[in-house]
Amino acid sequence: VARPITLHVNGRDHVVTVPPDTALLHVLRNDLHLNGPKFGCGLGQCGACTVLVDGMEARACALPVRIAERRSVVTLEGLAVAGRPGAVQQAFIDHQAAQCGYCLNGMIMTVTALLRRNPHPSEADAREALRYNLCRCGTHVEILAAVADLTG
Ligand code: FES
Repeated sequence: VARPITLHVNGRDHVVTVPPDTALLHVLRNDLHLNGPKFGCGLGQCGACTVLVDGMEARACALPVRIAERRSVVTLEGLAVAGRPGAVQQAFIDHQAAQCGYCLNGMIMTVTALLRRNPHPSEADAREALRYNLCRCGTHVEILAAVADLTG
């Protein structure tokens, strides 16, 4: 049964009236029109839908919206600074770390969470963090180069 749910997304409060077991991804995309998070597998396995919930990576396709209620949610859109790409986004642009680009939301959100935990990750740390984010185009070399730029 639908009920009002308060979400704190990218620094703003939103109230949506949806069944509480609706996947957070669908609420973000369909109700809040935040299309950064992508629908890939819908099974929590590919990472395309990744957002941050209280600073940690979360697979929005597999997270009931009720779990995110009153917690801090950040999407790709929330990484922008004054309307310009944030540091992680800019590094991915600089290294042309996209081919089709469908995975990049998840890659960028995962790297953002990694850098918050560990500002100077090694390449092995980056590979470990990204191991469950799938890229079918194979731009992993450029992605790792972007992460290396961000770690000083
Ligand atoms: Fe969520 Fe694949 S769409 S993990």
